[in-house]
Amino acid sequence: MNIPITKTIFGEEEAAAIVKPLETGWVVQGPNVAKFQEMFAAFTGSKHAHATTSCTTALHLGLEAMGIGRGDKVIVPSFTYIASANAVEYTGAEVVFCDIDLRTFNIDETQLERLIVNDPAIKAIMPVNLFGLCANMPYIMELAQKHGLKVIEDSACGFDGWIGEKHSGTFGDVGCFSFHPRKSICTGEGGMLITDDDAIAAVVSQLKDHGASKSDLQRHKEKGGSLLPDFTMRGYNYRMTDMQGALGVCQMDKKESIMQGRRDVAAKYDEALRSVCVNDEDKQKLSDFLMPPFIPEGYKHGYQSYVCLFTGGEDVSELLDPHTTASLADLKSLVDKINLKRNLFMEKLEERNIATRQGTHAVHTLGYYKDKNGFADEDFLRSYAADRLSIALPLYAGMSDNEFEYVVSNIKEALK
Ligand SMILES: Cc1ncc(COP(=O)(O)O)c(C=O)c1O
Repeated sequence: MNIPITKTIFGEEEAAAIVKPLETGWVVQGPNVAKFQEMFAAFTGSKHAHATTSCTTALHLGLEAMGIGRGDKVIVPSFTYIASANAVEYTGAEVVFCDIDLRTFNIDETQLERLIVNDPAIKAIMPVNLFGLCANMPYIMELAQKHGLKVIEDSACGFDGWIGEKHSGTFGDVGCFSFHPRKSICTGEGGMLITDDDAIAAVVSQLKDHGASKSDLQRHKEKGGSLLPDFTMRGYNYRMTDMQGALGVCQMDKKESIMQGRRDVAAKYDEALRSVCVNDEDKQKLSDFLMPPFIPEGYKHGYQSYVCLFTGGEDVSELLDPHTTASLADLKSLVDKINLKRNLFMEKLEERNIATRQGTHAVHTLGYYKDKNGFADEDFLRSYAADRLSIALPLYAGMSDNEFEYVVSNIKEALK
């Protein structure tokens, strides 16, 4: 058996839809992109949705449309995909990293106010709704309002993640999504920016289209289409193609079955981790080695990934406790010790053709940001721990019972 980390859910509908733009000749952002945007705005409950080439470019546009630039600073969690931080740098602004809460893998909101009051150059916060779970957005919005800061949610992984009735990405001034194949719905590459702010939406629509004051679709619909529009901003080409738009429409049409499929597998993992014993003779459960995702009350997880904290059976309470009196050096050596076990565990699963991945990166440990800032691993210790101890298990809609049992029985074997 061969179990990938995830699978895209493409069928006959996508195959048929992607050909249509080739037949009509309308292959850059056109009617399919417009429909995808409409569907996305309706689903998330946002006023505007603008499709882009990726989440990274959506983040860049959002920051620029909010007026972030040279001389400004933006707070970004230190455990995220590198693109969150890179998008800030594209604008000329500087990244200020903030550590995470190891239970949720999201930004530790209790550290934000200290950062904000100490640095007047901080103009925005970029919480990341990692793996499909929202950060503590109500609190972050309260804090942002108190200090007059902008908020851009990196919801690359946030599709169908909610707090109560509010969708991920709708709390901040702007929310940005990814449709890369590792995400729940996929358009190849692709992104979406949502906002309720008319002024931000107008700037984004122009900036993503070279700064043109009128899109090609608008111009073709009107009389006098032979005259090109004015370009009143220095824009970018971040337009989604209409083939991707067509894929997006199909994926939105089947989002309920995709998401139900993903949630069913996640629920089965929850149950298996809590009930399956590692050895038949003792009482240790899989969850004593792999902590299942933690979901705060009132939150609905989108399960872009099912990411556990690998403890290897060790006591990690000091790591989880932000008020621990343990030294950073002791905590780091605990992380390094368990990291060896995690990597061995991942290798064993790989030998059995089961793909796993570390959740994402501690960005402060990656060459570019580490060298630039002279960071030490333990400067953001929880992010370092998340990088070294997280593990994403295979998750895709339609995983069969046989496949699931193969994964769980091999997890059990590999932990013995
Ligand atoms: C948290 C986060 N932000 C941003 C991105 C970038 O998304 P894209 O590949 O669509 O640019 C990703 C992609 O993996 C991500 O996980």
